[in-house]
Order: sequence, then C-alpha cells, then structure tokens
Amino acid sequence: RSYSVSSAFDFAGNFFPLSSSAAGYAALGGTAATTDPTAALNGTSLEKHKTLTYINGLSLVVGLIIGSGIFSSPAQVNTNAGSPGASLIIWVVAGLLAWTGAASYAELGGAIPLNGGAQAYLSKIFGEWAGFLFAWTSVCVLKPGSAAIIAIIFGEYMVRAVVGANATGVSPWVNKAVALTGLILVTLLNCVSTKVGMRSAQLFLFLKFFALLGVTVTGIIVAVTGFSWEGHPNTEWKTKGWFEGTSSSVSQWAVALYAGLWAFDGWDNVNFVTGEFINPSRDLPRVIHTSLGAVIISYLLANLSYFLVLPSDVINSTNTVAVAFGQAVFGRAGAIVLALAVSGSCFGALNAQTFTSGRLVYAAGKEGYLPSIFGRIGVGKQSAIRMTSTSTTLSRPPSRFMRFISDEAGIFFTPIYAMALNASLTACYIIVGEFATLLTFYGVAGYTFYFATVLGLIILRIREPNLERPYKTYITTPIIFCCVSLFLLSRAVFAQPGQTLIVVAFVLAGLPVYFWRVRRRSSRRGGGEKGGDWKFWKRWGRS
Ligand code: ARG
Repeated sequence: RSYSVSSAFDFAGNFFPLSSSAAGYAALGGTAATTDPTAALNGTSLEKHKTLTYINGLSLVVGLIIGSGIFSSPAQVNTNAGSPGASLIIWVVAGLLAWTGAASYAELGGAIPLNGGAQAYLSKIFGEWAGFLFAWTSVCVLKPGSAAIIAIIFGEYMVRAVVGANATGVSPWVNKAVALTGLILVTLLNCVSTKVGMRSAQLFLFLKFFALLGVTVTGIIVAVTGFSWEGHPNTEWKTKGWFEGTSSSVSQWAVALYAGLWAFDGWDNVNFVTGEFINPSRDLPRVIHTSLGAVIISYLLANLSYFLVLPSDVINSTNTVAVAFGQAVFGRAGAIVLALAVSGSCFGALNAQTFTSGRLVYAAGKEGYLPSIFGRIGVGKQSAIRMTSTSTTLSRPPSRFMRFISDEAGIFFTPIYAMALNASLTACYIIVGEFATLLTFYGVAGYTFYFATVLGLIILRIREPNLERPYKTYITTPIIFCCVSLFLLSRAVFAQPGQTLIVVAFVLAGLPVYFWRVRRRSSRRGGGEKGGDWKFWKRWGRS
C-alpha cells in the first residue's frame, strides 16, 4: 500500500519553493510516504501533468528567487563596492550572472531530461563522482548553509521587531538564539506532517512581496516628493556624487558580488519547471527572460530607495536595512511593520528550505549516499494516526484539527531523521557563522558547482552537437557565465582564503565517502539494484 503525500506537481502548483536537488525533487513525487520510491515515481509520472502556463511559471520563478537577500545584502554590497553607483553596478552584474546561469540551466534541463538538476547533469557529463560530490556538498554545505543565512536574517529582523530599529546594544548571541528558535520551530512543524509544513508556508508567502513592494513604492514617493528624513534629508548622494569612494580592490568587488548573488540565488531551480510547461519551447525562454528581468528591476528600485532615504553609513552598518528604512520614513511603527514582514518572509523561506532539504537528505539516505537511518520515515511504522477513508482502524472520524494537520498517512510520517540531520548542520552554521562570512562561504561552494555545470553545457555542445535541445541559448550565454564565475571563484582565494579552504575541504571530503559508500557498494552488488542505486535517477527520464 503506498501513499502519495503530495505529487511534485501539486506541490509546485500550490507552493513556490522547490528543492534545488534531484533527489529532493524526486522525493517530492511521493516517495516520502512510500516504502518503494520507484513505485511512486513510476506511477505518478510528471509527464502526465503538463499544466504550467507562462504566468504560473513566472510567479514560480520570481517566488523562488526573492527572499531574504534584498533586505539584508545591501550592507555587504555597499561596504565592499564603496559607493552607491558601484553598488548598483554590482546588483546589475549579479542579476545578469543569474540570468545567464538560468538560461544555461534551462538548456541543460531540456537536453538532459532527467529529474535531478545539477546532480543529473554533472553525472551525465563528467561521471557519477561529480554528481555525487554535488549531492554531498548540497547536504553538507549548500542546504544547511543557506538555511543558516536565512535563519540569521530571521533572527536579526525578529529582534528588531521587538527592540526597535536601533539594536546596537543587543548581543549577537540574542540574534543567534532567536535564529535557532526559528529553526527548531520550523523543523518541528515539518516533522509533524507535510501538510503542516505547506500550510504554514502559504501563510508567509505574500509577506516578502508586501515588504519589497512597500520599500519600492515608498522609495518612489520619496524620490518624487523629496521627503526629508527626520529633518535631515539624505542629500549625501547629491553632494558626494554616486561614485565617490568606489573601491579599487578587485577582491572587494568579488565579495560584494557574492553578497548580491545571494539575493538572486534560487535561479538554478528554473530547470525543475522545464518539464511542466504545456508549451515549453515558447514559454520557458519567456519565463526566464521576464522573471529575471523583473527581479533585477525590482532589486534596483529597492536599492535606489534605500540610497534615497538612508545615508551610506547607516546602510553599511546594518544587516536589517529594511528596518532602518521603515524607521527613517515612518518612524517606530514603520520599523516594526517592516521588521515583522521581513522576519515573517524569512520564516516562510526557512520553512520551504527545511521541507526540501529534508527530502534531499532523505533521498540521499535512500540512495545509500548516507547511512540508511536518514532514509527512514517517521518514528516507526505507519501507525501514528490513519487518515484515509479506506482505513478500518479508526473508531471515529478524525477531528477537523487532525484533518487540517495530518497527511493521509498520519502525523510524524515524515523524514524526521533527515530533517534532524539538516537542522543540526544548520544550527552549527548559525552558531559558528556570521551573515557576512556565510555569504561568501555559501557563494564559493554554490558557484563551484554552478560553474562546473555550465561548463558541462559547453562540453555537451561539443561532444553531442546533435542532441535534441528544445531550448537552446546563445553559446555566449554559458561562456559569459563561466568567465564571470571563474573570476569570482579565483578572487575568493585572495579575498577570503580561510573560507575558500574550508569549502574545498568540505567538497574533497566527499571523495572518500564516494568510494566508501557508492563505488564499493556498486561493485559488490554488480552495479547495484533496488532503490539504493545512484543509476536510479537515470531510470526515469521523461521520454
Ligand atoms: N535569493 C534567496 C534570498 O534572497 C535565497 C534563496 C536560497 N535558496 C536556495 N534554494 N538557493 O533569500
């Protein structure tokens, strides 16, 4: 008897965030509640649900990208770029890099129609070890690292919602404690059931649009009316000029770029929607171009708003620029409203992240990449509370509350061990890390694999020129992406040698694990069978 918790498509249709990993995505297809992952995957082929239209795709991609970054990165960007003008250039460059990356991923998604995103592409182009290293890095660094960044921003905004815009006296440990509390809460929610996780996500989803729109519209009003800030209009940019103080250090520009790129991160998820369009060859490029274009414009407008209202030193000294903005324009009430909106939005993002990361770790456990406990569901058997109508074990119908929170299979029927691992790693990053350092750390790890994947696109063009590509981008697109990201990665070595070294160590630590868990096992089993075979992903292409 197999249950389908929520098909990947239902999930995508109702709820924006999707996993950036193959494994996570496949797990969304219903494996979370089935004993045999392949059964659910083969049974509910995504091919049957091609219903995504242009507008759906657009809101999906925009929703995946916009998050904490535009409310937290500006300080990092501005401090390192040195001037408002240079900051705006960084934001444009970061946006264009995300854009070329998204277009490249979209081509790969069409050329290699396997679910699994970068993991599948890397395995196909470079060999299974590359795909494994990506999965490994996702579990150890990318997923918990990004969750930690979001949690830290949640903590900082939440603290300011309570103490007000000026929180200089607050110990950083208070922020971290709030971040950890948020993480634990979100993990517990997701452990109860898939439904609880999804329902609470919908609740928080609109907050980020509210906050971003609030900042932008206010900025426009400020620009038009020449509003003055507490009697001290921010005329800095009039007297100082937009480019005064621009940094001449290439490494600082790279660090600023990493901060900007965080706000655009999530573009790699476009390839999860490639298979869902009714008319992919027409709509996919349209979605990529309009969504990235729209995000770039809205980020530029938001930054302009910050600069028009706040002096540089205020922007530079805060991770919670939206609170300072609200305080400056509307006073205490404005600060509180924006603090609540952004922390709510971060909470929602953290929730989505926990959902997908949990499934990713779970799938890695099922694959045999990780100890098998992480591939286990719930606290034991499907015994919790049966919710299906066919069930005969219930003496009376479930209450409204239970129906509201429970999956078909009951509560706590979720990958709780996987989520515990993910939450523990995230907690470590929250405790040892800081917003500014985590940004570069995450960026270096992320762009290593983005670079490798897009390089793979170029290799694939040479190696298999006749491969069918429903969407083909200009060859300059991946080349630009590769050049800029290679520059970024090389500068990180100079700008932040310590963090770069840690990232390299993390990635390389995956190699012995690969030989231990994948190679040895597949040679013993003669290539492996069951769900516990990495070739599993290859088995259900879309053909
Ligand atoms: N751009 C998002 C933000 O500004 C970060 C998204 C991170 N999540 C991810 N799956 N890469 O908060």
